[in-house]
Amino acid sequence: MADYDFDVLVIGAGPGGYVAAIRAAQLGLKTGCVESRETLGGTCLNVGCIPSKAMLHASEFYDHAANGAMAKMGVKIDKMSLDLDTMHGQRKDAVKQLTGGIEFLFKKNKVEWLKGHAAFTAADTVQVGDRSVRAKNIVIATGSSVTPLPGVTIDEKIVVSSTGALELAKVPGHMVVIGGGVIGLELGSVWRRLGAKVTVVEFLDQILPGFDGEVRKESNKILKKQGLEFKLSTKVTGVTVKGGKAILTVEPAKGGDAEAIEADTVLVSIGRKPNTDGLALDKAGLSTNQRGQVEIDHDFRTAVPGIWAIGDVAPGPMLAHKAEDEGIAVAENIAGQHGIVNHDVIPSVVYTWPEIAGVGLTEEAAKERGEVKVGKFPMMANSRAKTNHEPDGFVKVIADAKTDRVLGVWCIASVAGTMIAQAAQAMEFGATSEDIAYTCHAHPTHSEAIKEAAMAVTGKPIHI
Ligand code: FAD
Ligand code: NAI
Repeated sequence: MADYDFDVLVIGAGPGGYVAAIRAAQLGLKTGCVESRETLGGTCLNVGCIPSKAMLHASEFYDHAANGAMAKMGVKIDKMSLDLDTMHGQRKDAVKQLTGGIEFLFKKNKVEWLKGHAAFTAADTVQVGDRSVRAKNIVIATGSSVTPLPGVTIDEKIVVSSTGALELAKVPGHMVVIGGGVIGLELGSVWRRLGAKVTVVEFLDQILPGFDGEVRKESNKILKKQGLEFKLSTKVTGVTVKGGKAILTVEPAKGGDAEAIEADTVLVSIGRKPNTDGLALDKAGLSTNQRGQVEIDHDFRTAVPGIWAIGDVAPGPMLAHKAEDEGIAVAENIAGQHGIVNHDVIPSVVYTWPEIAGVGLTEEAAKERGEVKVGKFPMMANSRAKTNHEPDGFVKVIADAKTDRVLGVWCIASVAGTMIAQAAQAMEFGATSEDIAYTCHAHPTHSEAIKEAAMAVTGKPIHI
């Protein structure tokens, strides 16, 4: 290794970076990982996937108890109350255990954690505090952070990002969510369940851009039924904070009369941007594209030999499992193996109730490519969902009209996030809708709805 400090130096210890570091070490490469946070795990474990799911899970219990869903099944609670401190406590606990778990895995696999901020000084060298580190391969896995709304200051008290919205000390009377995407719907759901009035202001004419059109419409309908309010085709032009309240000015996206909305809390969730500030990419001979991402080829190589990029900082969906899979593949490529990620089959899940999930093409995108057959099955007709009082949602299977090959699967169901894994696996194996329809599914399970939707592709479901 001559005068290199590491075979592989990973910058960032999120799901992309920590997984890349562990896999590189498993493959026998001397590996270091630079992380500027106090704990490992990145956005996902510290302020993203994990704490948001802890709050979603706990608030779902509260909601079921408070809205009579449990009473309907004979579980009566006479005196119920919200102990928000305990709810936050279990969230912090989950984060602590999982971030500590990554530290344990680093030690177990002999990955050195370099604590501090990394900045390039040359293509093969980064500065971390007062240490200059030279590595044969450098993986940029610096992730992303919240996209600010011009003219709106995030103070993490009244005007919050997702990080502040996870930690609110009391339930707001009125929360306005700017952006009807994944963060807005998940965290809006948490606080709606705990008693807040929640208004989602979305610039587009429908929530959840990128999802299947029918799924977007149906999700909107279901969430409205739960009490979330939506102002679609509406833009926020300003937010002022006075006397502990926020006043938002909103107007129709296409222009028109402005309106003022008062809120106790405003959540800014209009997307995330790649983290490259302070990385001194120019010293390495790199630059970013128009979207601020570090461009890569199919093997995760940047334009500079020896520098690789993965996860949210690179193009593609900003999802933890996409970052993790890229982490494994990049380490394998560095080790001379053939790491591959199939970017056509990356599932997306919104952890609302019910969950909203999809993999592959939307019906709209599939139709643009050619003739398709579509099979649908309502959760209302699925015995398990019906028994569990979970009638909302459906499964939709989209297949190529000629070859029957499955092009996309979309689900709205209480456990859609778990169900979508079988669809992803089927698509990885190049399954036809008939393959799914003739696969024996356990009864009674929500997953039977995928089988029946696949049967519906050729018009033969049994239970509708
Ligand atoms: P990150 O997780 O962002 O990690 C990058 C790390 O690099 C950070 O810890 C940062 O401190 C560090 N870093 C950056 N620059 C430097 C530097 N110069 N020197 C040293 N360290 C540096 N995705 C899902 O798939 N499922 C979910 O349920 C989900 N929920 C989410 C909920 C919320 C509220 C948010 C905000 C995001 C959620 N995501 C979810 C998205 C997910 O968190 C990201 O896609 C994922 O974390 C990206 O992983 P990454 O490794 O690319 O980057
Ligand atoms: P997003 O891209 O999902 O949604 C942003 C929404 O804001 C869009 O609907 C957009 O049209 C709207 N918008 C943009 N500018 C606006 C404006 N000025 N006024 C009103 N609306 C505006 O981004 P979000 O929700 O911030 O999430 C960021 C990323 O984090 C996502 O890309 C997602 O991949 C990831 N994430 C994933 C989760 C999951 O997998 N369950 C959970 C949370 C986040």
